[in-house]
Amino acid sequence: MEILRTVPEIRAYAAAQKKADKTIGLVPTMGALHEGHLSLMRAARAKCDVVIASVFVNPTQFGPSEDYDAYPRQFEDDCRLLAEIPVDAVFHPEPAEMYPRGYSTYVEVAGDITKKLCGARRPGHFRGVATVVTKLINLARADEAFFGQKDAQQVVVVRRFVTDLNLNVHINMVPIVREESGLARSSRNAYLSAAEKEAAGVLSRSLRKAEASFRQGEKNAETLKALVLREIQSEPMAEIDYVELYSFPDLEPLPEVTEDALLAVAVKFGQTRLIDNVILEGGRA
Ligand code: PAJ
Repeated sequence: MEILRTVPEIRAYAAAQKKADKTIGLVPTMGALHEGHLSLMRAARAKCDVVIASVFVNPTQFGPSEDYDAYPRQFEDDCRLLAEIPVDAVFHPEPAEMYPRGYSTYVEVAGDITKKLCGARRPGHFRGVATVVTKLINLARADEAFFGQKDAQQVVVVRRFVTDLNLNVHINMVPIVREESGLARSSRNAYLSAAEKEAAGVLSRSLRKAEASFRQGEKNAETLKALVLREIQSEPMAEIDYVELYSFPDLEPLPEVTEDALLAVAVKFGQTRLIDNVILEGGRA
């Protein structure tokens, strides 16, 4: 497995693969890898000739009061996991390699999709994501890129700028990987105390309840959201940020689930904010 740390290194690597007519799959991550990330690597491995993972804690997507400094960094452990897949190359640049002195250019998805859900609570977050993912797709010369449904709004935003900027890459969305308790795998789960972790099981439980009710015929968005809200409120350690339902992938308000819908939650346990979601398959509009 090659470790690439600079722009010239990844450019040369990608150019050699292209010259050999290989398809390139890119899996962008911020490291602290877990089974969720590894499922993306396996999806890329199955579909592409060459898999490039990136491990980069991207400073531009963190707000000033967020956890950029505290974010777990464990590159050696990450490399061990990546070598087992195996992926072919890991891109692991320093922040100054991606954002050198004088850096001034950002990709900003205007319009409503970045203004709701996590976009409303984390100003600038999706601008940072869109900027770094554009750079990574470009550097890796990716034919395919892989993202998790765990961050469903991120997938919507990435698909938007890929379409709008005519980037020649296909965006794949991979299902959420969960722990046995149902808790969605996340690098931020490492921040949770044992009690918080147990309490956080309420997220997936509440979404499963709503999904079951939807399957039994409940289509009303307010009713489905209220079900989730009630379940989460029964957990004293949970501090709700949002419980929302929008059409997927357009993220438009949807009073009745008559097309595919994203039921998404963000909840704080202590200092740690967790997100989870389920896609209710209401059929294509
Ligand atoms: P990060 O949080 O490290 O996640 C990297 C990828 O792994 C994302 O596409 C995310 O949705 C996916 N992922 C995380 N947990 C998952 C789970 N439990 N099941 C399935 N997929 C999961 O998302 C980012 O990094 C960054 O914003 C990034 C795209 C790398 C840009 O900096």
